[in-house]
Amino acid sequence: MTVNLAVVPVAGRGTRLLPLTKSQPKEMLPVGRKPVVQYVVEELGRCGIGRLLFVTGPGKTAIENHFDIDAELIANLRETGKEELLGELAFEREDIEYFYTRQRRQLGLGHAVLCSRPVVGNQPFVVALGDSIIGRNAESRVVATMIEHFLASGADAIVALEEVSPREVVHYGIAQPKTAGGEVFELADLIEKPSVEESPSNLAVAARYVFSPAIFDCLAATQPGTGGEIQLTDAIRMLIERGRRVLGVRLNRDERRFDIGNFESYFLAFAEFALADPQLGAAMREKLGALLGREKGSPCC
Ligand code: G1P
Repeated sequence: MTVNLAVVPVAGRGTRLLPLTKSQPKEMLPVGRKPVVQYVVEELGRCGIGRLLFVTGPGKTAIENHFDIDAELIANLRETGKEELLGELAFEREDIEYFYTRQRRQLGLGHAVLCSRPVVGNQPFVVALGDSIIGRNAESRVVATMIEHFLASGADAIVALEEVSPREVVHYGIAQPKTAGGEVFELADLIEKPSVEESPSNLAVAARYVFSPAIFDCLAATQPGTGGEIQLTDAIRMLIERGRRVLGVRLNRDERRFDIGNFESYFLAFAEFALADPQLGAAMREKLGALLGREKGSPCC
C-alpha cells in the first residue's frame, strides 16, 4: 500500500486578507515568484503525490486555470521568441492528475474535507492546506516522512506539528502529546484554538495531515465547534476518543510553516522568499538593508 492522493482544501473566503482577497483566491497570492498554491502542489509532487483533489468554492476558478496546460500561451511564447520563459511553465507538466470538487456551503475545514469523501472513498490520503507553504521554497519532505510513519505504524491519523510561542496558541489546533520528546509521538488529545491558559502545549497543527478513511465517519459525526464551524481538529480528537492511534510529526528547523492567512505572516513570507530569490535576492538584501538603515537613522523611529 502507498498513499498518493492528496486533498487540498481551498474553499475558504480569506476574509482576514480583505481587500486583497475580494475577487482573487488567497491561495493565488504571490509569494516571491509563484502563487502560494503552486508551492503546495510542487511540495506534494516531490513527496510522491500523483493525484490531487482540490476542494474549491466560489471565486476559486483562477486555481483551476493555473494548473491547466495553456497551449495558447506556450505557442505565443514560441512565436514571439520568448522560449526562455517556457521553463516558467514547467510546473504545468508535473506528473499529477487533478480533480476538483466543491464545498457548496461554507461550514468549516472539517466539512471541506468531508466533501472529498465521495471521491476519496476507502483509501488513505493526505490533506494539505492550500494557504500554507512548508519550508523556504516549499523544500519540505515532511509529507513523505508522515506517509512513511503512517504506513509503518497503522495509525489512523498523522499530523504535522510546529512549535509556536505561547501567545500564538489561540490561532491553531494544539496537540497534547501522550509521551514527551522525539520527532514522532502519539497524541492524547487536540484542541482547536484554545485559550493561552487551557492550551495543553505549544505544538500547533501545521497544515499537513495523513488520514485513513476512518476520519470520514468522525467528520460526519462532528458538530460545529470553534467559530461555529465543523473543525477537522475535533474529528481527529474523536478518532482518539474512539481508541484509534493518532501520531504527531514535528517539523524540523528547516521546515518552518509560512502561513498566508493573515497580513503579518504574508508580508514576512513574501519578504523572506524575495530575499532568497536566486536572481534578485542579493540586490533585494542591499536595497532593503539601505531602507532599514534609513529607517533606523530617521528621527521618527
Ligand atoms: C486551520 C486548522 C488549525 C491549524 C491551522 C494551521 O486553522 O483548523 O487546526 O492549526 O489551520 O494549519 P485556520 O488557519 O483555517 O483558522
